Amino acid sequence: MKVGVFCPIGNNGWLLSENAPQYQPSFELNKQIVQRAEHYGFDFALSMIKLRGFGGKTEFWEHNLESFTLMAGLAAVTSKIQIYATAATLVMPPAIVARMASTIDSISNGRFGLNVVTGWQAPEYSQMGMWPGDEYFGKRYEYLSEYVQILRELWTDGRSDFKGEHFTMNDCRVSPKPQADMKIICAGQSDAGLAFSAQYADYNFVFGKGLNTPTAYAEINDRLKTHTDQTDRDVQTYVLFMVIAAETDAEAFAKWQHYNEGADVEAINWLMNQGGKDTKSGSDTNIRQMASSVSPVNINMGTLVGSYANVAKMLDEIGQIQGTEGILLTFDDFIQGVEDFGQRIQPLMQCRQHVVVDGQTLEKTA
Ligand SMILES: Cc1cc2nc3c(=O)[nH]c(=O)nc-3n(C[C@H](O)[C@H](O)[C@H](O)COP(=O)(O)O)c2cc1C
Repeated sequence: MKVGVFCPIGNNGWLLSENAPQYQPSFELNKQIVQRAEHYGFDFALSMIKLRGFGGKTEFWEHNLESFTLMAGLAAVTSKIQIYATAATLVMPPAIVARMASTIDSISNGRFGLNVVTGWQAPEYSQMGMWPGDEYFGKRYEYLSEYVQILRELWTDGRSDFKGEHFTMNDCRVSPKPQADMKIICAGQSDAGLAFSAQYADYNFVFGKGLNTPTAYAEINDRLKTHTDQTDRDVQTYVLFMVIAAETDAEAFAKWQHYNEGADVEAINWLMNQGGKDTKSGSDTNIRQMASSVSPVNINMGTLVGSYANVAKMLDEIGQIQGTEGILLTFDDFIQGVEDFGQRIQPLMQCRQHVVVDGQTLEKTA
């Protein structure tokens, strides 16, 4: 089971609460998190792209760094961990993204990969006059399919003459090519998104579900499988969960309750409103689910709360689910959370005993 950290590129991470740790994103913060994650054997670090926040008292996600430039910096100060940036494909032409990816491939020595998103929140794009209209919701993944075909052509052949509905390439060139096989990941939850991943992506990120129900998301693996059966490709899921852990269950739940008591209702309402706007993706499994999640205070939705031992047990349960290759983690407090994960949780996880920390596998240290 692979484990990654979802870098807090926006203010306050993923908790929409006045009672959660309040902080601004910075390179220094993310550097500390990713270097410590690398030390504890995390397999990868990913950052999202968010171009407009949700408002509210916490100014949720009104302060966000840019994904490629942040990850380029992190690539330069790490040596083993895989680095993923997210491309806002609606506003970043594929030939530019292909070249930026080649550049970070060079900085990281072949450790870079790309998360491609279609965008789900119109104000991020309409603020710069670049939202194509709500009919785009129904075509998002057709657009993305053309986009990644161009990326693959540029990375493989160094040129593209792709002609499609959305893009026209005229002997377009990108060189140098990346040294490593460039992985493309997507985070589709709708049928169109899953069909896209089955055809073009190497992995698909999915939202975890519920409070301490680590396996409740598993049906999406089955949905993805119906698509990969048709494309005959092996595409596994990585599931997103927030960990809120402490010495005892009681302590961890006290933190969770405190965050819920400080819920930033205005920001949550914005999220629900924006998340509900896509009525064209033909499924109720997209971002709209946020509106019905047990506690929207955690925008990740899936939340694991408990003692270090119980969190380790729940993470091991995820490791058993067929079709899941990894877990993407967020924390209420990232600095402490990565340390607690590395020192207290991971050593208890059966599915992480192969991990090498300080030159020894965890199995041997136990
Ligand atoms: C791990 C993860 C990372 C994501 N990163 C971004 C992002 O950086 N920017 C963005 O606009 N959406 C992001 N999303 C949303 C997805 O791209 C996608 O739109 C959403 O999961 C809904 O699925 P659908 O597009 O199939 O409806 C992310 C989702 C997940 C689970």
